[in-house]
Amino acid sequence: MNRDSVVDLKEARNPELVLDGENVVPNDIEWDGYIKVVIISGPNTGGKTVTLKTLGLLALMARAGLYLPVKEHSRIPFFPKVYSDIGDDQNIQLKLSTFSAHLKKIVHILNHVDAGSLVLLDELGIATDPQEGAALAEAILLNLKNKDVMTLVSTHYFSLKVLAQTQEGFLNACTEFDLDTLSPTYRLIFGAPGQSAALDTAERLGLDKSIIEQARGLYQTKDNRAEDLLKDLTRQRLELSRDKEEIKLEKETTEAMAREQRILTHRMREEEKDFQKSKNKKLQLEVRAGKAEIQKMIQEIKGEKNLPKIRKVERQINSLSQVPLSSKVEDAKEWSLPVEELKSGDPVLIMNLGAYGTLLESPEGKKKLRVQMGNINTVVDARSLRGNPQQKGKKSEKKFSMNVQAESGNDSVASCDLRGMNSEEAGEVMEAFISRAIVQKAQRVLIIHGHGMGKIKSLVRSYLEKSGLCKQFMAGARHEGGDGVTVVEF
Ligand SMILES: Nc1ncnc2c1ncn2[C@@H]1O[C@H](COP(=O)(O)OP(=O)(O)OP(=O)(O)O)[C@@H](O)[C@H]1O
Ligand SMILES: [Mg+2]
Repeated sequence: MNRDSVVDLKEARNPELVLDGENVVPNDIEWDGYIKVVIISGPNTGGKTVTLKTLGLLALMARAGLYLPVKEHSRIPFFPKVYSDIGDDQNIQLKLSTFSAHLKKIVHILNHVDAGSLVLLDELGIATDPQEGAALAEAILLNLKNKDVMTLVSTHYFSLKVLAQTQEGFLNACTEFDLDTLSPTYRLIFGAPGQSAALDTAERLGLDKSIIEQARGLYQTKDNRAEDLLKDLTRQRLELSRDKEEIKLEKETTEAMAREQRILTHRMREEEKDFQKSKNKKLQLEVRAGKAEIQKMIQEIKGEKNLPKIRKVERQINSLSQVPLSSKVEDAKEWSLPVEELKSGDPVLIMNLGAYGTLLESPEGKKKLRVQMGNINTVVDARSLRGNPQQKGKKSEKKFSMNVQAESGNDSVASCDLRGMNSEEAGEVMEAFISRAIVQKAQRVLIIHGHGMGKIKSLVRSYLEKSGLCKQFMAGARHEGGDGVTVVEF
C-alpha cells in the first residue's frame, strides 16, 4: 500500500470470480501517478465492469488489511473513500428511472468526493440520447479530474475515447477482442481504446442472423472513418503489447538461465572443493596410519642386531609407500566398531569421505544418520560409519550448529544457526552452509541470525543479494522465527 496514487496491481483477479471457481484471466492493472481518469472501452461482455469491480474490491480489501489476489510486488494507494455507480437502480417505489437513478448517484458522488477518493462509473451517461449523454459524461469526468480523485469509467461512447486520447491526465484502456473467434479474451490493455463489437457479440449470443445482417448493412452506410482510425490505433497498440509481453517472457527465461548457470558453476566449484577436502583428509589418515605403523616397526627392531631382520623391516617400510591410499583407510585398525555398537555423541570415521566426525543420533537400525563434521551437520549412509573402541564415549565439543538435509523429498528444513558468532565467523559458516545447501540441492533453507543489532542479519541478506546464488530470500514466517531468521529459496 502506498501514499502516492500509483496503482500497480500485477496479475489481479476478481475475488468474486475466483470464489465462484471460474477460470479467471489475470490482468495487470497499472498506470502512472499523474493519470487521474482511466476510460475502459472494448467489446460487450469483455470484462469492463468486472475490471471496475476488481479495482473497487481490491481497494476495500487492502484498506481492511486483507490479502489481495495479486502477484507479489503489487502496489495500491490507500483510498480513504470509494464511490461507485455500477448497475441499474431504477425503482418504481422510489420513482427512479434508469437515467434518474444514475444521476442521483452521480450528484451524490460529486457532492462528497474529495482528493484521493476512488470513483468507479460503469457506462457513464447512458439511458439517454447518446450525444447528450456523452457530453454530460465528458463534463462530469473533467470535473472529477479537477477534484484530484482517481476515476475509472467504462463506456462505449466514441467521444470519451477521443477525450482520453487527447486530454492530459486521461488514459484509454480496453479489453481485448479476438477477431478469429469473434469473442472477448478478457485481457486488459492500457494505452488504446477498444471497439464495442456489438454486432459480433449479438451474433455470438444467438440473435437471428437476418437481423444481424440487416444491422450490418445499416451500420456500413454510416461514415465510420473516425472509428476506423481508432480501430487501427487499437490494433497497433495490441501488437505492441503482445511484443512487449514476448520480450518480457524472453527476458525472464534468459535471467532464469543465467541464474541457473551461476548456481551450477558455484556448485561445481564447491563439489571440487569438497572432493579436494575429502582427498586431503584421506591423505592425512593415510599418513597418520603409516606413521603409526613405522613407529611400531622401529620399536620392534630397537636394539636388534640381526641384520636380515633389520633388512626385512627396511623393506616393509619401503613397501608401505607403495600401498594404494584408499585401502589404508579401510584397514585403519582403530576404527573397527560397526555402527550398531555406537551411540549418539560417539566419534566416527566416515569411510567413504575419509573424514572424522561425531555421531548425532543413535543408529537404531536407521539407513541414514546425522553426523557432525567440523561446523557442518550432514546426513550420511549408516554403512559408511565405523567407531573406535578407544574413543567411544568421548564427547567432542560442538561449537556451531549447521544442518543440511541431504535427502530430497524430506519435509524438514535445513538450517544454520549464526547466533553468538562474530561477523567473520558468521560469514564463513554461512558461506559454507549455502554452498552445502546448493551441492545437496536443497530447495529451501533457514539461516538463524536473531535480531541483536541486526549486523549479522544485514551481512546475511547483503551476501544473498550480491551473490545471486538463490532464487529469493525473505524474513521467516512468525512460527519460523520472523525477522530473526532469513528463509532462502533455491
Ligand atoms: N478476467 C476475467 N476472467 C474470466 N472471466 C471474465 C473476466 N472478465 C469478465 N469475465 C466474464 O465475462 C462476463 C462479462 O464481463 P463484464 O460484465 O465485465 O463485461 P462488460 O465488458 O462490462 O460488457 P458490457 O459492455 O456488455 O457491459 C463476466 O460476468 C464474467 O463471467
Ligand atoms: Mg458492463
